Amino acid sequence: MYENLHVFDSPYDTAHAVAEIILEKAKEKHKLSLPLNIAVSGGNTPKILFTILTTDFSESIPWNIIRLFWVDERCVPPTHPDSNFGMTYESLLKHLPIHDTNIFRMDGEINPEKEAIRYQKVLEKELPTNNGFPQFDLILLGMGDDGHTASIFPNDLSLLKSPELVSVGIHPTTGQKRITLTGQTINQAKEIIFLITGNSKADVLRQIIHHEPTFEKYPAAFIHTNSGNVEFYIDKAAASQF
Ligand code: 6PG
Repeated sequence: MYENLHVFDSPYDTAHAVAEIILEKAKEKHKLSLPLNIAVSGGNTPKILFTILTTDFSESIPWNIIRLFWVDERCVPPTHPDSNFGMTYESLLKHLPIHDTNIFRMDGEINPEKEAIRYQKVLEKELPTNNGFPQFDLILLGMGDDGHTASIFPNDLSLLKSPELVSVGIHPTTGQKRITLTGQTINQAKEIIFLITGNSKADVLRQIIHHEPTFEKYPAAFIHTNSGNVEFYIDKAAASQF
């Protein structure tokens, strides 16, 4: 099948394989005395990855070089149950020696439009640039059952091509505002990994992977680095319709 598809038996095995990639990249950067700039997504899927990182990988990854950013954030305070930062803090940050100066939170509690502008400035200041755009070393993405990724939803594909680096998305059913990296910023990354598990993703993932006539409805279908690279780390359940 496709060389960028990596299928594993379980969500644990899938997340463990992603953790191995993070370890490999962190070691490479550590040898060069360089940081590893990673943007992470929220939702439920990353929780198992974060737990694996805080247990199996807590001693092997040079955490002092990890600089952590977010792909998106719900417009709620960090203590709110919906907060991606809150989830990441509980499952990852509070267990690891990542210094506060290396954690770049999206402020979900302030005016969304103002935060999008502020976070864009953070990216411009804190990241190296490529083609004039801030460039992450690695972006970890999930995909919703509806094919959204980051907080770019099927009813607002314009965020894929927005001239902004960071913008405001709106969840189509709840109306919840979200701060989100735009498609351009995501696609600038050196490497993009989708971590997708579960049967509920299988139908849309099949449409995307097989470029079925409907695939262009889904934001996740438009995600790839400028060199065309995107790696899918998925479990058998998510791959069950291939
Ligand atoms: C978010 C995420 C979002 C997520 C997908 C998948 O803020 O919700 O960034 O893009 O990756 O919705 O979510 P699950 O992992 O919960 O299925």
